[in-house]
Amino acid sequence: MQSLQLSRHASITGLLLSIALQAYAAPEPVALEDQQHCMFCHTVDSPFLAPSFQQIAERYRSVPNAAVMLEEKLRVGGPAHWGDMAMPAAADRGGPLSREDARTLVQWVLSN
Ligand code: HEC
Repeated sequence: MQSLQLSRHASITGLLLSIALQAYAAPEPVALEDQQHCMFCHTVDSPFLAPSFQQIAERYRSVPNAAVMLEEKLRVGGPAHWGDMAMPAAADRGGPLSREDARTLVQWVLSN
């Protein structure tokens, strides 16, 4: 009897812990990615037509103000930093991107 109670207690603790962890990890902004076709050119972990989000996160992790530069680049475009092919600006990817949505996307990319 006692062990049954103990194991039930353990599984409830595990459940609460996993809910808490999910709340802390930045959720993937799937709807925004779809709308902007991010995954048409990028993947999270292997370079394809574009650097992977892990490579990008690695490169900018310790660069001050990188997020601001990347948000701007996602919205209006900018010079290439990885090769010859620059990323198309938001208007050419699927429509204009608000400052807030750009921040959400960049925060997620950098969390990889
Ligand atoms: C048409 C293909 C394409 C699409 C769609 C695309 N990207 Fe890119 N992206 C690229 C390429 C190519 C590069 C590398 C450009 C360079 O050399 O700076 C890049 C670079 C980046 C960088 C790094 C920029 C830098 O200055 O280092 C970030 C961050 C990024 N993409 C995020 C995204 C996100 C988020 C989306 C969706 C909102 C997206 N990309 C959609 C092709 C694409």
